[in-house]
Amino acid sequence: MKIVMVGAGYVGLVSGACFADFGHEVVCIDKQESKIAALKRGEIPIFEPGLSELVRSNAAAGRLSFTTDLVGPVSKADAVFIAVGTPSRRGDGFADLSYVYAATREIAQALSRYTVIVTKSTVPVGTGDEVERIIRELRPDAEFAVVSNPEFLREGAAIEDFKRPDRIVIGAEDERARQMMAEVYRPLYLNSAPILNTSRRTAELTKYAANAFLATKITFINEMADLCEQVGANVQDVARGMGLDNRIGSKFLHAGPGYGGSCFPKDTLALIKTAQDYGTPARIVETVAAVNDQRKRAMGRKVIAACGGAVRGKTIAVLGLTFKPNTDDMRDAPSIAIVTALQDAGATVRAFDPEGMEQAKATLPAGVVYCSDAYECVTGADAAVIVTEWNIFRALDLDRVKETMAAPLLIDLRNVYRPDQVRAKGFTYLDVGRGTQAPEAGTKTAAA
Ligand SMILES: NC(=O)c1ccc[n+]([C@@H]2O[C@H](COP(=O)([O-])OP(=O)(O)OC[C@H]3O[C@@H](n4cnc5c(N)ncnc54)[C@H](O)[C@@H]3O)[C@@H](O)[C@H]2O)c1
Repeated sequence: MKIVMVGAGYVGLVSGACFADFGHEVVCIDKQESKIAALKRGEIPIFEPGLSELVRSNAAAGRLSFTTDLVGPVSKADAVFIAVGTPSRRGDGFADLSYVYAATREIAQALSRYTVIVTKSTVPVGTGDEVERIIRELRPDAEFAVVSNPEFLREGAAIEDFKRPDRIVIGAEDERARQMMAEVYRPLYLNSAPILNTSRRTAELTKYAANAFLATKITFINEMADLCEQVGANVQDVARGMGLDNRIGSKFLHAGPGYGGSCFPKDTLALIKTAQDYGTPARIVETVAAVNDQRKRAMGRKVIAACGGAVRGKTIAVLGLTFKPNTDDMRDAPSIAIVTALQDAGATVRAFDPEGMEQAKATLPAGVVYCSDAYECVTGADAAVIVTEWNIFRALDLDRVKETMAAPLLIDLRNVYRPDQVRAKGFTYLDVGRGTQAPEAGTKTAAA
């Protein structure tokens, strides 16, 4: 099949490369000329494990190409996927659909035969109706159908998720379009991936419901972690005890600094707005978003408290900046609020991230000292904070870290270390909710 992917970001590029790998002929289109120029040179503008090889091999095989010109490829396409961003709109937090509608208008002008237009972007319920209305208005002569096919891939494991998805959701109102979608995903049908055929509106809402539920799970365990700290219980054991119940499941029950990233924060907000607009407020999700929002800066206060209540004139090393490991994505990363809180309190922040440095420089406030590795980062620091659980931070040479730091204080916001082992090395060690909080900041404590 001839497939066009409008938007070559995390979702568009991964989906495009995977569809090409299925054997389809794929053209990825993006407005950003520099991105397309880089892709044509074989350079991948984002960090995603395995993507580089997948793009290169499919481009070499002639199945995957890149362009800024939408008209030519769309006029020949069987299916056109919209994979542009839907960030939070400034002011009210609703999904900003301006990119989706701009892409829709461009696609409409280029249609020349029956084409399925598929929204892969996460869009509020009813957006497919509006996409259809716009195309009908601009091109009353066009033969087309609008389908919702939300994407559930996770950055960092995107290719695996795309090729072996838990499910594929296809929301279509038109049988011909549904058959085209079956053809697009045929290799996955053969792999027996569960395909859920729904109405278009149901598909749109399913994506938001799934993300809001995952955000709720994270926020729930984070609140349990706070309670564990007060009562001397261990949140990892609580999570295990909960997660072994099949009705609950163990995933997304890791206490930490709060969820971030390009999806959960904006998608929870958009769902909240949609639910309010339809007169059925999603109160649980409203609370989740508010609790999570406050948590990120509270992690900054936790660090300050660990430093004895003040960080003016102190140096804090922040290890990990991206919202999770194995991505360079800084969108809504907890590190932003944590670094800001520390700087507001007068600290000098040194920072290191294995893949996110470039994006961090464009995102974090000025004044951060960027370092080239974890050891340079902790040099002379009064405290080190693990914010993102990259593998390299799980296996630090703690003796070397202690030697280079001004004071051996480690605040592990991802619970990657065993408290007894770190304390045995002479560190003051704080984590999130494992009942192992140091009684007094800045002092060595006995192994738990
Ligand atoms: N990132 C994820 O993990 C993820 C997972 C599932 C769903 N989603 C959803 O997928 C959508 C895309 O997310 P993303 O992270 O890939 O965004 P992104 O910002 O990485 O990429 C979007 C791309 O679209 C391009 N673009 C915008 N308007 C365009 C136009 N008119 N024509 C051509 N290109 C255009 C931009 O230049 C950009 O490169 C969002 O709705 C998001 O919520 C993202």
